[in-house]
Amino acid sequence: MPKVTIDNIEIEVPEGTTILQAARMIGERNSAERYVVPPTMCYYSSLEGSGGYCRTCLVKVAKGSEKDPRPIPKPVASCRTAVQEGMVVENTLSPEVLDVRSGVTEYLLINHPLDCPICDQAGECHLQDLSYEHGLATSRYQFERRTFDPIDIGETIKLHMTRCILCYRCVKVAEQITDGRVHGVINRGDVAEISTYIEQAIENDFSGNMIDVCPVGALTDRTFRFSARVWITKPMDAHRDCAQCSGKTVVWLKGQDVLRVTGRKDQWGEVEEFICNECRFVKKQLSDWIIEGPRNIDRHSVISQGHYVLETKQKVLDHPAPNVPELAQLKPAKKST
Ligand code: SF4
Ligand code: FES
Repeated sequence: MPKVTIDNIEIEVPEGTTILQAARMIGERNSAERYVVPPTMCYYSSLEGSGGYCRTCLVKVAKGSEKDPRPIPKPVASCRTAVQEGMVVENTLSPEVLDVRSGVTEYLLINHPLDCPICDQAGECHLQDLSYEHGLATSRYQFERRTFDPIDIGETIKLHMTRCILCYRCVKVAEQITDGRVHGVINRGDVAEISTYIEQAIENDFSGNMIDVCPVGALTDRTFRFSARVWITKPMDAHRDCAQCSGKTVVWLKGQDVLRVTGRKDQWGEVEEFICNECRFVKKQLSDWIIEGPRNIDRHSVISQGHYVLETKQKVLDHPAPNVPELAQLKPAKKST
């Protein structure tokens, strides 16, 4: 099992592990060391072939391996580079990496509008976090930006191509989770765009998962769009008997109203189990769900600033809904994004 050192922290990992996976293992072993994990905009562990498109996960390999200690002369994509015995990697400790990451962020923002105040993804957008951490205060781009009108690509999904960063995650979902992909990236270079086949709508039992994997607000849920800012909703773990998926979801409540339903995301912001469209778009009554308890959003998101866990527990006590368990039975919430 090769040993790798990332930002002076050593870990032993199985053969074939990538630098990114090794960094995540460090973060899972000790949450105080999660800072060594590079950001990702296109890699998604459950989607085969994802990664290698966005370059946000670039790191410096200061020592290639025990056998060949020469450094790799340019930054490498950590999601696509396997660790070698004795490899030494620099992420946050390298000013060069931070500089490169800021360049990648600036590049991603060339066309992506900073319209967070009117975007449904605000508060849970990975590009928003990346811009906050590595972006510049102003843009140096002086040319006309690409803009597109939002379009409906099916009954329940809205595509706003202006915000798309071409990470290909939605294409991988369509390829691997649904049967019969009807959308993809057409054209190349600065005219590349996500599109459906002519007059085809995305109608597939698992197509809604494209919304969950989209790191920005390019794909949004038409049943939730503009209903509420995400940080004033109360996310609750919930489940139901479902013939198509595990039925394990997060329901986002405002009072007793279910505003939206999503998959449960882990600490890296990735969906643990993909859910079906019936759970996501149809089951919008509180009585459709068995509520398990407040979801603990521990990511550095504004959602976690809402103190909804305490508030929600209090509300449960004050106004118990028929299927909400007693406070004493609420399970501790799982850590998530
Ligand atoms: S629509 Fe979203 S998930 Fe699809 S390629 Fe664009 S940014 Fe990625
Ligand atoms: S996450 Fe590695 S290139 Fe996008």
